[in-house]
Amino acid sequence: MLLNQRVALIVGGGGALGRAIAQAYCREGALLAVADLHREAALETLACTGRTNDGLALAVDIAEPAACRAMVEQTVARFGRLEILVNCAAVCLADPLLEVTPERWDKVFAVNARGAFFCMQAAAQVMIPRNYGRILHISSPASRLGFPLFASYAASKAVVDSIIRAAAVDWARHGITVNSLVPGRMTKGMILSLEEDLARITERTAEELRAGRTQGLPMGRRVEPEEVAQAAVWLVSDAAAYVTAERFNFTGGMEL
Ligand SMILES: NC(=O)c1ccc[n+]([C@@H]2O[C@H](COP(=O)([O-])OP(=O)(O)OC[C@H]3O[C@@H](n4cnc5c(N)ncnc54)[C@H](O)[C@@H]3O)[C@@H](O)[C@H]2O)c1
Repeated sequence: MLLNQRVALIVGGGGALGRAIAQAYCREGALLAVADLHREAALETLACTGRTNDGLALAVDIAEPAACRAMVEQTVARFGRLEILVNCAAVCLADPLLEVTPERWDKVFAVNARGAFFCMQAAAQVMIPRNYGRILHISSPASRLGFPLFASYAASKAVVDSIIRAAAVDWARHGITVNSLVPGRMTKGMILSLEEDLARITERTAEELRAGRTQGLPMGRRVEPEEVAQAAVWLVSDAAAYVTAERFNFTGGMEL
């Protein structure tokens, strides 16, 4: 097993990708803490892995740095250590560029950018003394491509691309790797409600819009969260000990 007895905290673990990653980590022998804005969703993920009894489900709003620290403290209190942090939590709001408000911009950045940073900082604080850690953020093709209808989300993911590099360089000497994983368009998760909003803004049906966005992909299909989760296993495994500061594409060629 690639993650035998490793303690993994999966933030946003109640969502589509977080759940698939939790299941994959569980199969590889990891001990799981699952945190989400909605504790019921975290509990449901633990139930899917069959780890309701020995796993930890936490409610957290990562927009609050103090909550990030408390989440890590609770994980360490339960398992005695934290070795893997995966941050899947994010929000995406669709707005035409001229209609983005400061409030909606800040809402996206509070979670996707500031939240990502303070989760990572809280985790590193307990990883550094043990000289071991794996930190994995989830970025998006949007950080590099031009998507005018969700510019705040795209920009917030560019922050993720940047902070992994800073942290990877600083913490390499402590045995901590910091990477991001970039899923292509998935079959599940936040993309479905986003596409409802995009369809409304562009006055199409969601089905029509989704079909167009699928046909336009080089592979002609979307990716399953379970496929992405396999890369999330490898990136935090000992096999990837020399992989750091990478923005790892799992996009089926979407970014070309
Ligand atoms: N779905 C896609 O096609 C796609 C494509 C590229 C990148 N991504 C990225 O993958 C990751 C997972 O996305 P998903 O599709 O599984 O979305 P999802 O909406 O199913 O999951 C996101 C989870 O984050 C949680 N969350 C939101 N705000 C939070 C907060 N403040 N504190 C704690 N938890 C919070 C939500 O409750 C939810 O459970 C995200 O980072 C997303 O940007 C998704």
